[in-house]
Amino acid sequence: MNSSAINKGVFITFEGGEGAGKSSQISILKDNLNKLHYDVLLTREPGGTPGAEAIRHVILSGGAEKLGPDVEAMLFSAARADHVDHIIRPALEAGKIVLCDRFFDSTRVYQGATGNVDMSFLYSLEKIACDDIWPVLTLILDLSAEEGMKRANARRSSNDIPDRFEKEAMAAQEMRREAFRKIAEDEPDRCKLINASGSEQEVAKRIWKAVAPLIKKKAN
Ligand code: TYD
Repeated sequence: MNSSAINKGVFITFEGGEGAGKSSQISILKDNLNKLHYDVLLTREPGGTPGAEAIRHVILSGGAEKLGPDVEAMLFSAARADHVDHIIRPALEAGKIVLCDRFFDSTRVYQGATGNVDMSFLYSLEKIACDDIWPVLTLILDLSAEEGMKRANARRSSNDIPDRFEKEAMAAQEMRREAFRKIAEDEPDRCKLINASGSEQEVAKRIWKAVAPLIKKKAN
């Protein structure tokens, strides 16, 4: 792969626990970038391609649970490989700004740190799935488990059945928060911890402050 082609685009991932506001913040950022006439691709994991969406359905419906956590991690990674090859890499080659809702840090946290899958196994899967496509910026939306759960519950309508991940308890949510914070601490060049409390506009401003320098670099 010609890395200068990839350098034309900018790959940004969003991470965080339930109710941290990733989806709203990603679309606010997309709108702000579009206003400045940047070509933006918004995508999500697990999913983003028909193949990966099929895997998403299998995992989130609980269908993969009986296969065990290692296989589940492999499924997330298989979905990622398809997503990288068919959506993310071509968009970066075309010079787009790619905003992705969750990426490998979610696997590190959900399957690794809090799911007991061996981290070195996950790092190998990352290399296979991502190859040379690595986010230049990862925004980790940081919110207390309590506040996150409150927001997630308010968002859910009464006939909306929570997926099996969202049925987990507050303690697991707090563990995931800590695991995300640790990633931010370990990889400060790539990751930026964003305080996700406060109003949508306040959080959007914090995100813009982290993204603007990268975008300026792209323009130069
Ligand atoms: P989704 O409905 O997209 O939730 P959210 O709005 O929180 O992103 O469900 C995705 C779920 O899958 C979420 O609970 C996190 C989990 N997940 C993993 O466990 N591992 C992964 O690698 C990814 C990408 C997601």
